[in-house]
Amino acid sequence: MTTASHEEIVCRRLVGRTAVITGAGSGIGLATARRLASEGANVVCADIDESAGKAAAEEVGGLFVKVDVTSPEEVEALFKTAFDTYGSVDIAFNNAGISPPDDDSILTTGLEAWKRVQDVNLTSVYLCCKAALPYMQRQGRGSIINTASFVAIMGAATSQISYTASKGGVLAMSRELGVQFAREGIRVNALCPGPVNTPLLQELFAKDPERAARRLVHIPLGRFAEPTEIAAAVAFLASDDSSFINATDFLVDGGISGAYVTPL
Ligand SMILES: NC(=O)c1ccc[n+]([C@@H]2O[C@H](COP(=O)([O-])OP(=O)(O)OC[C@H]3O[C@@H](n4cnc5c(N)ncnc54)[C@H](O)[C@@H]3O)[C@@H](O)[C@H]2O)c1
Repeated sequence: MTTASHEEIVCRRLVGRTAVITGAGSGIGLATARRLASEGANVVCADIDESAGKAAAEEVGGLFVKVDVTSPEEVEALFKTAFDTYGSVDIAFNNAGISPPDDDSILTTGLEAWKRVQDVNLTSVYLCCKAALPYMQRQGRGSIINTASFVAIMGAATSQISYTASKGGVLAMSRELGVQFAREGIRVNALCPGPVNTPLLQELFAKDPERAARRLVHIPLGRFAEPTEIAAAVAFLASDDSSFINATDFLVDGGISGAYVTPL
């Protein structure tokens, strides 16, 4: 397996920049906190899970802010704290999200489960962008990266209906914001990861190998992504190396969305 491990990275593209990361305590958010810090950014680690968020912030020499991303007041306070502490808000990685088991087929998913997933996955991105943009407008600079998913552009028979709809919303909102604020020096992109090798996924598929096989068969690369590979894409989108990349559906999916027949 060839993957980019953050220990090998010598890029210092983000020196002096301040990055706010939601869901920084685990998975993609944690890998990204490590990567952005290794590139020189001041990292603000936001999470609802106090112990995981604190541990992440300590590890990367950043700041922990306890936030429920569904709360307008807490999200406002998060970006204000980032600005007051470091003097700018250059990067917003709006990444916190959930995929609970009671979000399933439309036929069995209740309104309460539907609304909770919309709140955490979609309304939170609206709140974070709304809070980050005024700082970026004043600076005349900023990069917003909103975590969507490859399921925003592809249908699955193994449905998680609210999750999929929420990620479609993230995609459309990111595109529109990228267009609206482009001439103010602010880029907004939606990041669309394919399935990532997280502890949750490992546990699920260890219990049910058929479930893993059913998904792996669609991935040309023949494996799930590592969190560090998603973090590398975020670092690119956050940096000036991606200065002409805006309002995109930035797919990091190992070729899933391009595949019809995969190699044996
Ligand atoms: N893992 C995958 O295969 C995959 C694929 C595509 C997209 N994504 C998306 O990537 C993002 C990160 O996923 P992950 O796999 O790293 O998940 P994860 O569960 O490992 O981490 C998510 C983090 O978000 C935090 N969080 C949850 N609800 C919150 C809230 N209300 N306020 C603040 N923080 C909250 C959790 O405490 C956790 O630390 C999500 O938006 C997810 O939908 C994941």
